[in-house]
Amino acid sequence: MSNEPVVALKNATVEFKTEGSLLNPFGDPDVVRAVNDVSLEIGDREIVTLIGESGCGKSTLGRTAIGVQQPSSGSVSYRGQDIWAARSGGGTEISYSEIRPALQMIHQDPGSALNPNQRIVTSLSLPLRRWQPELSRPERMERIHALFERVGMQPAADFLNRYPHQLSGGEKQRAVLVRSLLLNPDLILADEAISALDVSLRVEMMDLMLELQALFDTSYLFISHDLSNARYIAEKSGGRIAVMYLGRIVEVGTVDEIINNPQHPYTKALRWATPNLYGDDEEQPPIRTIDVPDPTALPTGCNFHPRCPNAREFCVNQSPPEIEANDDGHPCRCFRADEDHEYWDSPPVSSDSDDTLSAGGDHQ
Ligand SMILES: Nc1ncnc2c1ncn2[C@@H]1O[C@H](COP(=O)(O)OP(=O)(O)OP(=O)(O)O)[C@@H](O)[C@H]1O
Ligand code: SF4
Ligand SMILES: [Mg+2]
Repeated sequence: MSNEPVVALKNATVEFKTEGSLLNPFGDPDVVRAVNDVSLEIGDREIVTLIGESGCGKSTLGRTAIGVQQPSSGSVSYRGQDIWAARSGGGTEISYSEIRPALQMIHQDPGSALNPNQRIVTSLSLPLRRWQPELSRPERMERIHALFERVGMQPAADFLNRYPHQLSGGEKQRAVLVRSLLLNPDLILADEAISALDVSLRVEMMDLMLELQALFDTSYLFISHDLSNARYIAEKSGGRIAVMYLGRIVEVGTVDEIINNPQHPYTKALRWATPNLYGDDEEQPPIRTIDVPDPTALPTGCNFHPRCPNAREFCVNQSPPEIEANDDGHPCRCFRADEDHEYWDSPPVSSDSDDTLSAGGDHQ
């Protein structure tokens, strides 16, 4: 371990160019900025939960953090070493062959990590054979068996000799969790890793992941679209929640800061939309429209302004930087977090759209 964060993203931006359409095959490609100028550090044994609606860029950000997706600009480093410089053999102190096994991933669909034509034991042996060739076969088997028993799949030999279709969804996800832990990684990206499980199994799986995190001293980047899962994980681990909207992280903080004292209007809307999290009895959603903007034509200024109940003219042209919230100092990309900001002297934007919902902000 070093004093450097396990992973640090600095002003990372990821753009995808889409192909020309049938109607306009030779036109300029559309550009989707899936990740937009994101800086985030994940420390040793830290758990960060990334939350946001579908298409906001969570998976792209996660893949960038573990060095699978290259940023179009900005950087991503592992313990201070640029991952992409290491990948291209750029003379970094830590080689890519050390970095790759240290950053692991669990997919939403465990099937994609397990070859349907191979017994579980074969799929699990592969990463060990590739990254730790010095281990003998008995040593590999001992490690796999011990971990299988640790996640409650006993007798291990019985489960390990099965094919993936002979395991339940929960068992497959445990097998994939074991696969990600076998190399003793520093960080695991868990991308919607519990979403496909029955509600009753989700808490069990989250608890297991947290137990193993403590045992292995691993950090997690846990992606979810469900704020109540994010709260559960962050509350139990003392970790942080990062809220993402259209490629940007708009607010980061502890459970107290994000769930109990959200500053960003989008975080407030997410909280409103999550059963059991919102104590007030406000019936109207605190959002002006449910329509998400076209990711290839992002709004000017603050990209949440077309939906924000608190948008003022200032927000239409100015993009908020990261501001420390007045009362507790957690970072937030909304002018309202600064009570002296000139935003407050600007008039509210007009609510002329038919689909504008009555929202509990400055538009009533
Ligand atoms: N390889 C790609 N090529 C083109 N566009 C992509 C690619 N991968 C992602 N995108 C686009 O980038 C944006 C962010 O996608 P991403 O998968 O990161 O979102 P997400 O928050 O993980 O969504 P979900 O919750 O549905 O999994 C989307 O508009 C998506 O269509
Ligand atoms: S900066 Fe303006 S538009 Fe953006 S979230 Fe804050 S109040 Fe809303
Ligand atoms: Mg995703």
